[in-house]
Amino acid sequence: MSESTIDVPETVPAVVESNPLRDPRDRRLPRVPEPCALVVFGVTGDLSRKKLLPAIYDLANRGLLPADFVLLGFARRDWGDGDFESIAKKAAKEHARTEWNEDVWARLSGDIMFVPGSFDDDEAFDTLAKTLDELCLSHGIKGNAAFYLSIPPVLFPTVLQQMERTRMADNAAAGGWRRVVVEKPFGHDLASALTLNKLVDDVFTAPDVFRIDHYLGKETVQNLMALRFANQLFEPVWNANFVDSVQITMAEDVGIAGRATFYDATGAARDVLQNHLLQLLALTAMEEPVEFTAEAIQTEKLKVLRAITLHPDLEKYAIRGQYDQGWQAGERVLAYTAEQDVPANSNTETYAAVRLGIDTRRWAGVPFYLRTGKRLPRRVTEIAVLFKKAPHLPFSHTDTEELGNNQLVIRVQPDEGVTLKFGSKVPGSLMEVRDVSMDFLYGEAFTEASPEAYERLILDVLLGDSTLFPRNAEVEASWRVVDPLEAFWATHPPEKYRAGEWGPTAADEMLGRDGRAWRRP
Ligand code: BG6
Repeated sequence: MSESTIDVPETVPAVVESNPLRDPRDRRLPRVPEPCALVVFGVTGDLSRKKLLPAIYDLANRGLLPADFVLLGFARRDWGDGDFESIAKKAAKEHARTEWNEDVWARLSGDIMFVPGSFDDDEAFDTLAKTLDELCLSHGIKGNAAFYLSIPPVLFPTVLQQMERTRMADNAAAGGWRRVVVEKPFGHDLASALTLNKLVDDVFTAPDVFRIDHYLGKETVQNLMALRFANQLFEPVWNANFVDSVQITMAEDVGIAGRATFYDATGAARDVLQNHLLQLLALTAMEEPVEFTAEAIQTEKLKVLRAITLHPDLEKYAIRGQYDQGWQAGERVLAYTAEQDVPANSNTETYAAVRLGIDTRRWAGVPFYLRTGKRLPRRVTEIAVLFKKAPHLPFSHTDTEELGNNQLVIRVQPDEGVTLKFGSKVPGSLMEVRDVSMDFLYGEAFTEASPEAYERLILDVLLGDSTLFPRNAEVEASWRVVDPLEAFWATHPPEKYRAGEWGPTAADEMLGRDGRAWRRP
């Protein structure tokens, strides 16, 4: 379709029109949510400061918040609206993705409110409920509100009870929609996840519950679906007939970044394998959804999660590690057990690697190797699909010795993109074939920068689109994979690895035993 034939919407939302950063003829104008309030519990926390508040500013800056929007903070602080506004401004200015625009903030700042109180304070919740009611009159917000629980899960019951008591979660009573956003961890194991899910579902109706797995908000993760289902090239070979194995890596170069209390009680498997890595696996392995809707996609992911099997020999195929002291970026870094507030005898893992199978016709026999770790040499998340080697090579053996598997690598971060590795002739008179790479880089192919995951996900909550949110059953199916691993690891202390290196040797041996090796991303 040429540019001249594109339909430009006749009316452009006022909020978009008034935004200098937006071209009103942009045919890909995303939808803008209805007038609404976003209530954040736990606004003083790290997540709120580094991700939520900046994302709200970025959305405002992109013209994606409704003209009638209110941000309401709730916390145990002796603050007024102005105090919260200046703290939110500082956080947004420091961490926003888009350029700072004082006018955008000035518009937003008039709609930032704060209700002080602790979670067991009935009066404070009554004030919150009353404030939301009043917004109908003062801001034309017809009862629509999303509640973001950016608080430790132990506080969920109290906050949810308060919402039930004050009928804040009741769509009919509110005269609009009421939604709740739950941050991971979604429980500690299957039993606690079931309790948590029930607790949330008793207060909110299931379609109004949004569980955030921020990896699903990443642009490249969504591109996985585009790559697979918008092209003819990949899907025919996306199965056990052609795929040798799949490696999913989430490596971080940072340590536990001051979160000792949370991390030591959690460990790498519960922190990221149960959610981020298994969601990446589900998207990589799922069948094509019958339509691009939340329900259809969640259904396909769930089928994969339920078909996951562990290798029977966990001793060899479920490895965990803990970083020891070492060097990173030229600096000496502490061992995990020497980090502040970590017990010296802690057995919590900072690294996990497992071999999983998927019991379906498409994937039978294909190993999925998953690994994640802190204090590894670099920050990189990628999904690598390694294809079987050509069954026959008509070239002289010695010239093709170094030929590896064809690989399709989806780089989630950083340097978002896709790389295809295949054999190519080396120039010269010999028929020598070597591996080469063909790269697609988001940064080079598109002028638009990718939105931050939280930007995308908060917008989807306000729009009521749950496509990128895992549902209950997915969370539960994931715990069914992780619980037996945790039970096994409870009696197997983690192997130490040097900070700044690629994890414990047992993880290399795991692949070596299968005649494979981890990619060096
Ligand atoms: C979080 C984990 O979910 O993801 C952290 O709790 C981890 O431990 C973080 O560091 C990584 O997120 P990202 O987007 O930086 O890869």
